[in-house]
Amino acid sequence: MTKVISFANQKGGVGKSTLCIQEAFFLSMKKNKKVLVLDMDGQGNTTSRLAPRNESKDGSYEVILSGTKTAELFTSHKDNVEMMSCPCGVDLIHTPKNDPDLFEMEAMALDQVINSARHLKSLFAKYDFVLIDCPPSLGRKLVAALVMSTHVVCPVKLSGFAVDGVEGLLKTIINVQQVYNPDLNILGIVINDMDRSMNHDKALKVLQDTVPDFLFQNKIMHRSPIDIATTDGIPVWTLRYGHVAAKEIEAVLEEILEKVESNDVK
Ligand SMILES: Nc1ncnc2c1ncn2[C@@H]1O[C@H](COP(=O)(O)OP(=O)(O)O)[C@@H](O)[C@H]1O
Ligand SMILES: [Mg+2]
Repeated sequence: MTKVISFANQKGGVGKSTLCIQEAFFLSMKKNKKVLVLDMDGQGNTTSRLAPRNESKDGSYEVILSGTKTAELFTSHKDNVEMMSCPCGVDLIHTPKNDPDLFEMEAMALDQVINSARHLKSLFAKYDFVLIDCPPSLGRKLVAALVMSTHVVCPVKLSGFAVDGVEGLLKTIINVQQVYNPDLNILGIVINDMDRSMNHDKALKVLQDTVPDFLFQNKIMHRSPIDIATTDGIPVWTLRYGHVAAKEIEAVLEEILEKVESNDVK
C-alpha cells in the first residue's frame, strides 16, 4: 500500500520543504522507491528545487513546468492528472511560484476540498511513497493534505514560541484524525535547525516535558550544507564537505522510514 507522508507545521522556515525534498532523494536514490512529491505550498519552493531547469551561462536558471498543477486538483472535476518527471528521478505535481490559484483554495468549502482529495487515491496507488509539502498555515490545504495522508511528520524549530505552535498543530492533526481520517499516523516531531544556545535548550526541555512521546530520537542541528544542498535541489550527501550534515539528516530520514514500516507490522 502507498505511504502518503505529509510534512506539516503552520510556521514557515522550520524545514518542511527541506525534509520533504531530502526524503524524496533518500527514498528514490538510496531505497529505490517510486516517489511522487505533491507541492501544496503556494510559494512553490519545492517545485523550483525539483523541476527541470534551463540554465543560463551567468548561473541563473528558469524552471520548466509541465503537467497538472496542484491547484487544479481541487477544481470540481479533474480526469487526467499529469505528473512531471524531475531530473532526480522523482515525479512531481507542481505549484508555480506564488500561485494565486492555490492561495484562493483557502476560500473553498471544506467538503469540496476534502472530496477532491479523495480523487487522488488512484494516482497515489502507482507509487511506493507520496510526500506532501504542506503550506505554512492551519487552513484548508493542510486539512486536505492530512485527509489524503497515511502519516504526518512535523518539523519544528526551537524558539520561545515553539511549544505553543506545536500544541496548536497537534490539536489540528488530532482533530482531522478523529473527524476525517482515523488511519492517519502521527509519526512525531523532528527538531530541526537546532543550535546550542540557552534558548534552544530551554525550548527543547519544555517539549520533552509536554510532548515526550512525539519527539524523534534523532535531531538536526543548524548545518549550512543542508541549506546549500536544499537551495541547489541536490541531496546533502552529494556535497563533499557535508558529511556531518548528511549523517544527521539521513538518520532522521531513516527514522521516518522505520516508523512508517513499523506501522505496517502493528
Ligand atoms: N538544519 C538546517 N540547517 C541550516 N539551514 C536549514 C536547516 N533546515 C532548513 N534550513 C534552511 O532554512 C530555510 C527554511 O527551510 P524550509 O525547509 O524552506 O522551511 P519551510 O518549508 O518549513 O518553510 C531554508 O533556506 C533551508 O535551506
Ligand atoms: Mg516550505
